[in-house]
Amino acid sequence: MKKLRIIMVGALAAGALYVVGPSTATAAPAPRALPAAQPKTGPGWHSPTPTTDLPLRVLARRHGLGVGTAINVTALANDTAYRERAAREFSAVTAENVMKWESLEPTRGQYNWGPADELVAFAQRNGQKIHGHTLLWHNQLPAWLTEGVADGSIDSAELRRIVKNHITTVVKRYRGKVRSWDVVNEAFTDDANPVLRDTIFRQHLGPDYIADALRWAHAADPTAKLFLNDYAIDGINPKSTAYYELAKELRKRRVPLHGIGFQGHLDLQYPLPIDAPQNLARFDRLGLETAFTEVDVRYFLPTDTYKEAGQVGSFNTLLSACLLTPKCVMFTVWGFTDKYSWVPEWFEGQGAATPFDENLQPKPAYRGLQQVLAVASDPNRRRGF
Ligand code: G3I
Repeated sequence: MKKLRIIMVGALAAGALYVVGPSTATAAPAPRALPAAQPKTGPGWHSPTPTTDLPLRVLARRHGLGVGTAINVTALANDTAYRERAAREFSAVTAENVMKWESLEPTRGQYNWGPADELVAFAQRNGQKIHGHTLLWHNQLPAWLTEGVADGSIDSAELRRIVKNHITTVVKRYRGKVRSWDVVNEAFTDDANPVLRDTIFRQHLGPDYIADALRWAHAADPTAKLFLNDYAIDGINPKSTAYYELAKELRKRRVPLHGIGFQGHLDLQYPLPIDAPQNLARFDRLGLETAFTEVDVRYFLPTDTYKEAGQVGSFNTLLSACLLTPKCVMFTVWGFTDKYSWVPEWFEGQGAATPFDENLQPKPAYRGLQQVLAVASDPNRRRGF
């Protein structure tokens, strides 16, 4: 309880908590003068102290927690400030795009390892672990593959060989370098009764393609932790329950599934998944690792202090859920700066979804993450990150 209380104090760092008791006064009290506007003493109106103003990776270390970011490899090559921040703040990295199939094998049989290798080298230079993203996803597939399946020149038997070969080739190349893989990404539908998404993999390899993919990846690197990863499963809902049932079944069959990735793409216009701790706990009880893998919190621009406060609370709700879960190994943001975030391109009018602004300066969301990591008690150092 003590731990929960302290973490929740951090989660509420966005604003004040007022407790109003029953009124015993007979006459209305004279209205008090409004307090003077708070001085803007620092970024986010919050002056960090020396014990909290430390890089996230340093603050997360005593919890045994990896703190990661998606990396835009073009920015990594061209933007010094971006490179320095990425190295300073994070102990884990995920390729935003360059480990996806269309990027790795744009032409059949010809692998384009360069960008992914650059990211791996960067991570190794900076003592960062790598979360591999992603082996099988219905988006960002190479045209030769989707067109071949569509026109029938690649039949089901051949697709099975191609998929097995892809997983084996990629996982072997990064064996011992990539800590964990999103083996299948976004496998379920979003409706009230989620079912396996109708992808080319589901259609041609059958519903057990997930188990097959996990086994192939495990054979290629028995030390890598193998994850399923999806969005809109942060709280308890039909989709996260579908994952829970699948995970339970795969574990029972001794299929090598080691973790579930909760993407954590939040949007201030929708309810916050405040039951994330209970949701992660049920996967934890199955013996699985858990991780927030793609956290960002978008909203409609322009920014105001209400939205900033909502964003602080949203980031901190997910971070707190992770800290409360013994085997939650990693908290990763989907880009750390608004300068390169995917959000404005995909959601018209929305943005500002990351912890650093376009000039790579810390926002209140960043200060909130620092606060929670700094004040949360009872660190669980045995997460295994
Ligand atoms: O590769 C082309 C390039 O050839 C072309 O010149 C350029 C021109 O715009 O576009 C490039 O493609 C872009 C691609 O990323 C690779 O950089 C697309 O336009 C762009 O829309 C695409 O977006 C990515 C998106 O996945 C694709 O689905 C985002 O950057 C990336 O953040 C996003 O990441 C996903 C995760 O993988 C899974 N979970 C959801 C998350 C957000 O959608």
